[in-house]
Amino acid sequence: MQSSPPPTPLIPESAPFSDEQRAWLNGFFAGLLSLDAGATLAPAGLSLPGQAADGDDGEAPWHDPAMPLDERMTLAEGRPLARRMMAAMAQQDCGQCGSSCAEYSASIAEQAEPRLNLCVPGGKATSRMLKSLVEEMGGGVIDPEEQAAKEAARLPKSDDLRPGHCREAPVDAAFVSRLRLNGTGSEKTTNHIVIDISESGLEYDVGDSLGVFAANDPALADAIIAQLGVPPDFPVMDRSLREVLIDDTSLSPAPDSLFELISYLTGGKRRKLAHALAKGADPDGDAETLDVLAALEKFPGIHPDPEALVEVLEPLQPRLYSISSSPKADPGRVCLTVDAVRYTVGDRLREGVASTFLDDRIDYGAPLKVYVQKAHGFALPEDGATPIIMVGPGTGIAPFRAFLQERLATKARGPAWLFFGHQRRDRDFLYEDELTGFQSTNTLTRLSLAWSRDTDTKVYVQDKMREDAEELYQWLEQGAHFFVCGDAQRMAKDVDNALIDIVAEQGGKPLGDAKAYVGALRTSGRYQTDVY
Ligand SMILES: Cc1cc2nc3c(=O)[nH]c(=O)nc-3n(C[C@H](O)[C@H](O)[C@H](O)COP(=O)(O)OP(=O)(O)OC[C@H]3O[C@@H](n4cnc5c(N)ncnc54)[C@H](O)[C@@H]3O)c2cc1C
Ligand SMILES: NC(=O)c1ccc[n+]([C@@H]2O[C@H](COP(=O)([O-])OP(=O)(O)OC[C@H]3O[C@@H](n4cnc5c(N)ncnc54)[C@H](OP(=O)(O)O)[C@@H]3O)[C@@H](O)[C@H]2O)c1
Repeated sequence: MQSSPPPTPLIPESAPFSDEQRAWLNGFFAGLLSLDAGATLAPAGLSLPGQAADGDDGEAPWHDPAMPLDERMTLAEGRPLARRMMAAMAQQDCGQCGSSCAEYSASIAEQAEPRLNLCVPGGKATSRMLKSLVEEMGGGVIDPEEQAAKEAARLPKSDDLRPGHCREAPVDAAFVSRLRLNGTGSEKTTNHIVIDISESGLEYDVGDSLGVFAANDPALADAIIAQLGVPPDFPVMDRSLREVLIDDTSLSPAPDSLFELISYLTGGKRRKLAHALAKGADPDGDAETLDVLAALEKFPGIHPDPEALVEVLEPLQPRLYSISSSPKADPGRVCLTVDAVRYTVGDRLREGVASTFLDDRIDYGAPLKVYVQKAHGFALPEDGATPIIMVGPGTGIAPFRAFLQERLATKARGPAWLFFGHQRRDRDFLYEDELTGFQSTNTLTRLSLAWSRDTDTKVYVQDKMREDAEELYQWLEQGAHFFVCGDAQRMAKDVDNALIDIVAEQGGKPLGDAKAYVGALRTSGRYQTDVY
């Protein structure tokens, strides 16, 4: 029997991959190119050479987390389905779905992934758009057996399937402590969280994130149960309704399927309203504020069957946190830097599930299900002599605390510059003592601080970058790696613009050349982001 010829390599020899990675990527793209359902794509930042079989050029001009969904979809018009599905994602490559925007959309288009709600930052808008795109291809996963076979045949979303190293296989760690990092009078509650992983078999590197499985506030579950008018121990799938609502279901935001259920239980105008909400319309202008409790309260008198209610709710998803410690400095432990999300809608306090679970609902010593989400392209340069520039306002400081610990432990000699910013110096200077300590050992050689609410005019990290433009450009010219962590939608975009302006001004380059210079930093791995 004649053996089939080896596939034509799609990844150029010059591309910055190891032989193993190149072989993997060649196989991966060869597989994708053979698909008929428009699943041709390249991961973010990676263009397929020439045109793919379906005419797609592999570019992803919509891959910008600051771009609104409708603009992204317009840019993707006429592209194969998998590409349009990618455009529907939040473009953060944040890893919450277990992989990147390109990988997740590819698996949906291949019908290897039935879940359309894994893009947490994209929220309901993304899952709605995915649903309509999946309908275009005939309804997504039709045959569960076929889907299981495809999922099994597909390369794993995570590179590492060991327990605790992907979201499908979390392990038990133990909650050790929390310490509020803000001073009295701060508008923020940002906690330094310590988790014991010594018994868990977890391994991590600086730059990685930790996935945390939290539980809902029992008081919120109780309020929903009261609205349903059933006892808390009402049995649902061999457990009590209360347990299922606390541990397993997402209680915010209210999913479209809940409004669909409500539309069956009511009539007339109310049915129309529920139907409209299920379709993504917002007749009363309050759709963004409707969590599960608010949705039930909006339709007083309806009493969905608890089992049906649980059925239509989304599963509770883990949350990712950038690890703020180095395993070399603190073996057996992981530290996180977590801002507690709290805001008020009407007269009810809304609380982010995981951040407030870590802030006030988990007991010291209690078990906590976690996994390590490996960073893709967010790591210290191998040579400790290479200069690094870190920009991390607010909780964006988290991975940089880890970087500095690591550089101290490895006696890295290269210069390190941190841009940190927050609201007020006297109460929001997170890790002030530690940063001073890193300065005293020359682990941190420059610290630039931006306080946004200490003066009438806001001062942000990018303003401090512009102030020190000349020196910053010199660092880049000397081979510095540039890192950004924190808010994806505004801060990271503004920092990127500031960087381009600095390169244009200091390098005497036209804007196009400055953009190309910054683009080249990205593609060569010298400009890395961990944004959310
Ligand atoms: C790779 C990665 C790293 C991360 N690292 C960190 C980190 O180091 N530290 C950190 O604190 N977070 C970090 N996050 C964010 C974190 O994962 C969670 O998204 C965050 O803690 C909120 O989760 P939650 O469960 O508490 O809130 P949720 O229950 O998910 O609620 C948050 C949602 O509430 C809504 N909301 C929030 N504030 C308001 C408001 N003022 N008004 C109206 N609606 C509002 C928004 O819809 C928001 O999406 C990271 C995310 C990623 C992807
Ligand atoms: N997209 C999102 O929904 C999103 C994004 C990031 C963080 N978060 C959530 O917010 C919490 C973390 O907040 P945080 O502690 O990291 O701090 P933060 O609230 O993001 O703010 C940190 C500092 O950044 C400043 N800032 C605001 N806009 C900026 C911009 N465009 N460029 C540069 N700096 C800017 C803030 O100033 P002022 O506030 O005074 O303007 C503040 O001084 C987490 O729960 C996280 O999940 C959500």
